[in-house]
Amino acid sequence: MKLFLDTGNLDHIRTINDWGVLSGVTTNPSLIFKEKPKDWIAHAKEICSIVDGPVSLETTTTTTKELIEEGHELAAVAPNAVVKIAMVPYGLGAVKALSKEGIKVNVTLVFSPAQAILAAEAGAYIVSPFLGRVDDIASDGLNVLADIVSIYDTHEYETQVLAASLRHPMHVVDSAKIGADIASLPYEVFEMLVKHPLTDAGLEKFLSDWESLQGQSKK
Ligand code: E4P
Repeated sequence: MKLFLDTGNLDHIRTINDWGVLSGVTTNPSLIFKEKPKDWIAHAKEICSIVDGPVSLETTTTTTKELIEEGHELAAVAPNAVVKIAMVPYGLGAVKALSKEGIKVNVTLVFSPAQAILAAEAGAYIVSPFLGRVDDIASDGLNVLADIVSIYDTHEYETQVLAASLRHPMHVVDSAKIGADIASLPYEVFEMLVKHPLTDAGLEKFLSDWESLQGQSKK
């Protein structure tokens, strides 16, 4: 399962990229709003230049015609740009048209297997079910993910399943067990993923024993 970072923050992207585990980035208008870039397209270009993998850039227009135009503009940002389009009726026509032209589209704000079938039929490159937001309304995001993975396997859809809106390490582990192609996680969840108290305690002991050994061999 590939790991993507869900952010618009350039420093966070550089940090996780330096870990050597970053396969892509997802952004959305709320994440970009937090960064307040003066020039959104220049900011998107910068993100695409840091990451060696797909970078999803979200559309904000509200008709099929505008989405197609905006999709062209976003796809031209960089060769690794992926156009993100919300799962709405007027979005599906744009997904179809852009996909037909060979432009990669990530269908976002997906909350049900029914919506995921529509995304795949429209030719999406990626479908993004939002696990955390499903959990927030006392439903089960992992069940939605499992249904989508199973339906896609049965019908051999090529659309990649990206587990989105992940809130904690077990969302990531369970998404991998279920068979998601990609998990996109916030910076804080990457930090949680790497941490284990036994690793910290074990390393502290190894380093202190090593230091003692250096002290002894000097005697
Ligand atoms: C994914 O593409 C979305 O940007 C993201 O995962 C949304 O997460 P949130 O529900 O934490 O805002």
